[in-house]
Amino acid sequence: SEINVTEELIRGIRGIHIVACGSAYHAGILGKYVIENVARIPVNVDVASEFRYRMPSPLLSPDDLFIVISQSGETADTIAALRLAKSKGAKVIAITNVKGSTISREADFAMHTQAGMEVAVATSKGYLTQVLCLYMIAAEIGRMRGELDVAQYAAFVENLKKLPKQLEEVLADKAVVQQLASQRFMDVNEFFLGRGMDYALMMEGSLKLKELSYIHSETYPAGELKHGPIALIEKNTLVMVLATQSALLEKLVSNIKEVKARGAFVVAMTQKHNKELLQKAADVVLELPDAEDLFAPILAAVPYQLYGYYTAVCKGCDVDKPRNLAKSVTVE
Ligand code: G6P
Repeated sequence: SEINVTEELIRGIRGIHIVACGSAYHAGILGKYVIENVARIPVNVDVASEFRYRMPSPLLSPDDLFIVISQSGETADTIAALRLAKSKGAKVIAITNVKGSTISREADFAMHTQAGMEVAVATSKGYLTQVLCLYMIAAEIGRMRGELDVAQYAAFVENLKKLPKQLEEVLADKAVVQQLASQRFMDVNEFFLGRGMDYALMMEGSLKLKELSYIHSETYPAGELKHGPIALIEKNTLVMVLATQSALLEKLVSNIKEVKARGAFVVAMTQKHNKELLQKAADVVLELPDAEDLFAPILAAVPYQLYGYYTAVCKGCDVDKPRNLAKSVTVE
């Protein structure tokens, strides 16, 4: 209700663009999967610094809905993308954590993540709340465009309401993640794999590890690994696999076998009800509460954030202020 977008506007849009930087961009990619799934409308996601310099100019029409995401609301490239979209006549929704920020003021509609002040340079609650806003936007667009009926919409909201308790369960298991980090903090290279929404989530998991611990990590859609990066897998390479989507589980089990055959050490994560299947293939299986497939990736964000955190602590890195990074990038 905070956004106050009319049903008429939502029914008239032909496509959605999501533009952001860093973790907010990763939230946008997860948002694409959710919006396309729930609201059945095409979503294009771009990093702001790429979008603004698309030659000769970005393809945008006044019938497109433009969503910018920015924790600080002050990121220079995202502001430039927002202004460009407005100049092309697109309606802009901003998802930001800072009321009164440039992005919040200049957008047509602003949705505030209400995460509270985020102090550490690498975002955590900022990312999670951005993802939640995108889920809420997906549900509203789905409802307004007739893709979700009353019962489906209510069920969607109920699933969102279960998240705080489920996240408490995830946090209660943090010792397992800490132990894993204490065994792997000397790694030079790690891989993060997933398919669909899990792939989107892994982009953020991998970024958290790089930012905080300076360990090189790559994210790949699991099915793409064989087209090159599998050459980098050797004995004891850590491969993290997120597998929350039941329709893709068998595919991921095959991918796990592929990397295991090259000597990888595989740590998979899935909901309780899938654990047995994954245990047959992976070396370690981390368990998530039994959330529905559409919502489980949200829960997975926290263990990967914790993994980056504990790894950095083991290495003696400054978790709050990683080298070379700034909380808000207000210059190009
Ligand atoms: C910096 C931060 C990242 C953040 C990105 C986008 O690079 O270190 O954590 O995701 O900026 O910031 P924004 O405030 O626009 O979300």
